[in-house]
Amino acid sequence: MSVQQPIAILDSGVGGLTVVKEVMRQLPREKIIYFGDTARAPYGPRPAEEVTRFTREIVDYLIQYRPKMLVIACNTATAVALEDIRSRVSIPVVGVIHPGARAANGRTQRGIIGVIGTEGTIRSGAYEQALKQLSPSVEVISLACPRFVPLVEQGNFRSDETYAAVSESLESLKQRKLDTLILGCTHYPFLAETIAEVMGKEITLISSADETAREISTILYDRNRMARSDDQPVHQFFCSGEPRMFKSITQQWLGEQIELTPVVWQVP
Ligand code: SIN
Repeated sequence: MSVQQPIAILDSGVGGLTVVKEVMRQLPREKIIYFGDTARAPYGPRPAEEVTRFTREIVDYLIQYRPKMLVIACNTATAVALEDIRSRVSIPVVGVIHPGARAANGRTQRGIIGVIGTEGTIRSGAYEQALKQLSPSVEVISLACPRFVPLVEQGNFRSDETYAAVSESLESLKQRKLDTLILGCTHYPFLAETIAEVMGKEITLISSADETAREISTILYDRNRMARSDDQPVHQFFCSGEPRMFKSITQQWLGEQIELTPVVWQVP
């Protein structure tokens, strides 16, 4: 296996690009292959078995590019399929929940942490479990925000409609005494400015993207698998749905042109 092999990153749609951006910033020599399953997003309302099956299918697709590591940059898929995927492949597999929980635990002053995510992530209790494992006395307040992912997938990051959805969804959290809020869905950092506006400046927002990139870096370094070439890596992007919106959001978020391969996927 060569150190020049890519890091494979997957998500239900564009949310995992928040992780891609951090990996590009922290590990600029690494080549990335990214799959956004836009034809089947959102994953949040789907049953766990279905999300696991979709995740397996994407992993089977990406594995043909011989990645040296796999990143499940989707909280819903991490919550229900991380262990399943780890048992199926022989390369390191990183999820986004533990890194986010670790970051929040390190930042909270009062020990009261809010978690917002999809219905699937919140139902799984994965953040609560991860946070309690790190610090048993922490209080966790979880809330599903099903209106957020469709807004992000439409590229609707800042508008009156977005503000109304964020403010209505977070109303109950504003009454609580939390000091740290985990954006427990990789789509939510796209709405971070609006979420911060609604929650107020005193609440620390945690995006798992930078912690996840740090974890990727640590694993590669420990295993002596970091890319060494001075050549600028050419990243590859794949999406299963309508390519125009995916390409436009990706280029806007990453601030560069991308190579995109639409994948014809059987959508159930
Ligand atoms: C979704 O597809 O519903 C969101 C993905 C995530 O949970 O990060």
